Order: sequence, then structure tokens, then C-alpha cells
Amino acid sequence: MSLFIHHIKELIFTEKKPKSFYAGKEMANISTLKNAWLYIEKDKISDFGSMAHFPESYKNATNEIDASGKMVFPSYCDSHTHLVYPESREVEYVDKIKGLSYEEIAKRGGGILNSAKKMAIISEDQLFADAMKRLNEIIRYGTGAVEIKSGYGLNTENELKMLRVIKRLKENSPLTIKATFLGAHAIPLEYKSNPSEYVDLIINEMIPQVAAEYLADYIDVFCDIGFFSPEDTDRILNAGMKYGMRAKIHANELDNSGGIQVGVKYNALSVDHLEYTGNNEIEALKNTETMPTILPGAAFFLNMPYAPARKMIDAGLPVALASDFNPGSSPSGNMQLIQSMASILYRLTPEEGIYSTTINTAYAMGIEETHGSIAKGKQANLFITKEIPSLEYMAYSYGDNKVEIAILNGQIID
Ligand code: NIG
Ligand code: FE
Repeated sequence: MSLFIHHIKELIFTEKKPKSFYAGKEMANISTLKNAWLYIEKDKISDFGSMAHFPESYKNATNEIDASGKMVFPSYCDSHTHLVYPESREVEYVDKIKGLSYEEIAKRGGGILNSAKKMAIISEDQLFADAMKRLNEIIRYGTGAVEIKSGYGLNTENELKMLRVIKRLKENSPLTIKATFLGAHAIPLEYKSNPSEYVDLIINEMIPQVAAEYLADYIDVFCDIGFFSPEDTDRILNAGMKYGMRAKIHANELDNSGGIQVGVKYNALSVDHLEYTGNNEIEALKNTETMPTILPGAAFFLNMPYAPARKMIDAGLPVALASDFNPGSSPSGNMQLIQSMASILYRLTPEEGIYSTTINTAYAMGIEETHGSIAKGKQANLFITKEIPSLEYMAYSYGDNKVEIAILNGQIID
């Protein structure tokens, strides 16, 4: 099987020598090729170049696409989602509009606990079918890889149920999927007076069972005020690491909670949210292997302060941007919208927006060697746009689906 895409108006984010991520000033310019072709063999990018020269034999490819007037981008990598969930939560959304805060809703047993109640009764098959629909939807918007968290089970049985569903999604979807165990997403009501007992349950029961079934690539903790303290986070990450699960944590969403520093201490792959990030946190992140990840959808939807993305890049840090697709704080997995928000709300240039949603998010899910850019030998996960005037148009034209054809593992997705 081979696919020859030719007369591409502009091939975006080509790399000769692939890098793991891009930081600071490196994010200002992006390498592109005008009037280009791309050759795919089986599931890999085999070669690309300018229309002035290409091997004659490419004309005999199994499939060919004339991409005149259209651009080709590497697929988005969405490194933070909770897209396996039992039901939408628009009732709380109305409460929010009426003025209740995220914490107030959580205190009333709403929020994550509300999803946990529904998780206990939904069947595994239903959960799988609903999530599969969401996956098919995000493919249409250009996503090629996605991380999915557990965290609506909040007891051993239902956390395992969620992770088994994620495993089935891995086996059945053309998307590249990574699974993260997030037992420490919220403290169940029955442990409210003694949260450390719930932390014990996570450490002594959940983590060993998750590891025994190889259900999680990563481990996450919602380290924030009203949820898990830096001390709880410390204990949980320590336990997870003993089982080979690297940390990717929720940090500094609701307060300057110390989460970023705990993440760095455990060499987390990423620290995510970061609305409350000051100079100390920026300093703590410098020269580390931890990807600062911002979730524009959640801040926008909850009307919260925006993380200082511009300041972070200006300080030389890399920044990744993910959707946080979940029913409570970001009910959308549309990465094109995230890219627009990056420019509109965070003042990132369109080029910085591309790095933040492709290679930097690929790094934040441990797949940077195979995903996140157009490079020889990488997975052929990319999309062809509709006819669009420029690279900048991707971020500019918000709310519109600019993807015409999604290609995953070298296959055109119908
Ligand atoms: O990333 N911050 C914590 N967790 C999710 C919200 C999940 C929910 O409300 O269901 C988030 O925003
Ligand atoms: Fe989240």
C-alpha cells in the first residue's frame, strides 16, 4: 500500500532532523515546503519534497491525491483528555452561568463526583460505544493521537472498568492512544473526613491492580486546593513510579498549590493546567524534562484566569496545548479551536500554536519519536485541509472545520 499526495499548496512542519520538542524562540518559525509532495508507504511517511523533483515511480502508487490549493499538516496530538465518561453535565453548566464556582459545585457533590455516580451504573459496552463516537469525531477535526485518563471511577472496580475501556479503544481505534490512571481525581464523599485513607486505597489496592493488568502508561493526580495536597501527590507518585508509571499531573489550576514543584521533583512527563503559575514555577520548570501543558478549553469554559503561556515561552520554556476534553470543564476535543484559542487568548503566534499542539503534545504523551511532525519514518498521521489561503488561516478561522481528509497510519479515514 502506498499513497502519493501531490501538488500540496504547502506542507507544514517538515523536519529533516526531528527534535523531541521546541522551546522559547525555536517556536517562532516553522519549516514548510510550498508546492510539495508527500509519499506514504504502508503506515509511515516515506519521503517528501518539492514538485520540481520526484521519482517517476511515485506515479504508480496504490492511491494518489491531488491536493492543489490545500495544505497538509501533521495530525494534532491531544495529550490530556477525559473522554471516557458516562454522561454530559449541562445542568452544572447552567449552575456555573448562574454564578456557582467549580469548587462550590464540587462541594455540593456535583462535578467529578456526579460523573462517578453515573460511572458506577453504566455498562462497559455503553461506555466504550460512547467514547468511540467521540474518538471518531476528533479524528474529523484532525487529531491523530490522544491521551485518555481514568478518574470517574474513584473506586477500584470502576477505575479498572474505565481503564479496560481505554484498552479496548486502543485496540479498536486508528488513533494512537495512551492511558493514564487518575484514581486521585477527587476525594469520594465517604472519605471526606479522612482523605488519607483514600490515598492509601489508591496506593495499596488500585495501583498494584492497574499495573498487574498493564492498564496504564502514566499516572495522574489532581493536585489542587480541595482535591489532593502536594503531600498526597508525593505519596501517590512515589507509589506509581515503583510500578513504572511516569507522572502527568493536574497542577495549579485553582491555586498556587505547589503541584508544579512536586511534578518536577518526580520528573513528570508533563504538568497540566498551570493557571496559577508565577516566576518561581517558571524557574522550577526551566531545564527539566517536564512539559508545561496548558488547557485553554477549561480556562475558557470555566471563565478562569489564563495561564501565562506567552511569558513561559518568552522565558525560554516549551509549551504544549491540549483539549482536556471532559464533561465538566471542557466538553470539546476540537484541537483546531484550541489552536485558535492559543492565539486569541494566549497571544501565541500561529506557528507557536502548531508546535504546541503537535510535537510538544507528542512529547507530553511519550510519542515524539513517531508522531507530531512531518518527518521521514514517522507514523503517517496527517490531514489535508480544505482549500485555505495560508497557514495563519488555521488559527484565524476559529469555529470552522478546516480538515477535509484525515489520514491515520497511512489510511484515508472515510
Ligand atoms: O481537567 N481538573 C480536574 N479535572 C478535569 C475536570 C473533570 C470534570 O469536571 O469532570 C479537568 O478540568
Ligand atoms: Fe483534566
